Amino acid sequence: MKISVSKGKVADTSCEATILALFEGKELAGAALQIDTESNGLIGELIGSHDFEAKPSQISVIYTRGSLPAKRIVLVGLGKYGEFNLDKLRAAFAKAMQHLRTLNIKGAAASIDVNSPPPDRKDKVAQAVVEGALLGLYQYAPFKTVDRENLKDVEQLTILTEENDFPLIKAAVEEAETIAHAVLFTRDLVSAPANRMTPAILAKEAGGITGRRGVSCTVLDKVKLNELGMNSLLSVASGSNEEPKFIILEYKGGGTDAAPIVLVGKGVTFDSGGICIKPSDKMDEMKSDMAGGGAVMGAIMASADLQLPLNIVGLIPAAENMPGGTALKPGDVFASYSGKTIEVINTDAEGRLILADALAYASNYKPAAIIDVATLTGACVIALGDDVIGMLGTDDKLKKELQEAGRETGELVWELPLWESYHEPVKSDIADYKNYGGRPAGAITAAAFLSKFVGDFPWVHLDIAGPAWADKDKTYIPKGASGIGVRLLVEFLRSRAGQGSVAGGS
Ligand code: BES
Ligand code: ZN
Ligand code: ZN
Repeated sequence: MKISVSKGKVADTSCEATILALFEGKELAGAALQIDTESNGLIGELIGSHDFEAKPSQISVIYTRGSLPAKRIVLVGLGKYGEFNLDKLRAAFAKAMQHLRTLNIKGAAASIDVNSPPPDRKDKVAQAVVEGALLGLYQYAPFKTVDRENLKDVEQLTILTEENDFPLIKAAVEEAETIAHAVLFTRDLVSAPANRMTPAILAKEAGGITGRRGVSCTVLDKVKLNELGMNSLLSVASGSNEEPKFIILEYKGGGTDAAPIVLVGKGVTFDSGGICIKPSDKMDEMKSDMAGGGAVMGAIMASADLQLPLNIVGLIPAAENMPGGTALKPGDVFASYSGKTIEVINTDAEGRLILADALAYASNYKPAAIIDVATLTGACVIALGDDVIGMLGTDDKLKKELQEAGRETGELVWELPLWESYHEPVKSDIADYKNYGGRPAGAITAAAFLSKFVGDFPWVHLDIAGPAWADKDKTYIPKGASGIGVRLLVEFLRSRAGQGSVAGGS
């Protein structure tokens, strides 16, 4: 969908449909009042009769019948004024655009004159509107061959703004489009079936990001991984016919000697569980076990497109976890890249194995911060549910920054403790560490294991096992791959670069 920004008023704009977002129980103001006046009270009548109460994401379509240049007014509810946040706006615009799509409307205009309460700025409002519209309309259909003509899409959205706000809104809309496109890129990677998204294909997709200024990509293959002693990554891949890849994406937008931020993403292109094979119910969803790697790729894509003044490195250990005659077995022991030895208790705890080598590799960059993103544990889903990212780490400032980025983007993170006592269960009898510490506090002991391979650098681990894949439609996340982590990381990076909305981001 093409998005443009125009100076103009809703009441003067001719189009198939104009979207107008309203608060529940609040008097009409701004664009809404103007339209109501010019149309002889079309909106007021609907509200007065309680047909439309502006409940969150409620939709009502009014046919203007010549009283306005727009053929239809699509009203969408924002809920109560006092309960407003940007996620409500994303949800409302996702819903409105989805409704337009079902009506087979190709072009629409939107007022972003929502009179939202402070401190939400107009550029933030514009950003949320664009994100809601683009993310809400996502469809993954490359393998649909039948009835393709039914795959409707809205082609054009014009955002209307006042003369004075035009430069601010135009810049915000363009940045939001850039970020949303990176999310859609990540969703495509995660949606792809595992036979179409092998470690080699994921590496090729990473190579595709390098067209941008400052981005380079290096892929370490099996021979190189053997040479480097990345046995923890190799061990996970050993049961599969697909060879592992270690993907290194580097974006240089900062000073030559500025320490980079290293993003590490779990890239298990399919997690069968290996010898500790998973039950078959929902095993298909384990094609999404590279969502962390996908999020890192999307974040680097957006950072380069925005030309952020930072150095950023993306490390994506990619492997397929399969059973087989050469597969890793429970009880196996090997030396990881760090030199520390690992005893494998459960071959389904493979994410932490591949991350162990990638986190140790991150030290080579002497990074300013390390953030890993992984669909790591079912235990995190049990603890926090489907919508929230679990966060653990060693650096309070970094954690705070990510929490703030979470609030801003709606990609909420919640911290779990990483106290001393949680490290005990991952000590091994015969090796340094074991990859499974039992069911209690499973998300935490997984992070405790990871921490053993992180050097002395600020580090945060984000467990996205819950929100990476939506089992049902959620406002602006249609059922399937969510692309979670991309907007969170980009918001964090923008505020590190002093460009985000987080006051005084350092
Ligand atoms: N990829 C899974 C975690 C996961 C679960 C992601 C649900 C998305 C949704 C991970 O590799 C895994 O299998 N974890 C096991 C670990 C256990 C065997 C130690 C788990 O959490 O059950
Ligand atoms: Zn697993
Ligand atoms: Zn996994």
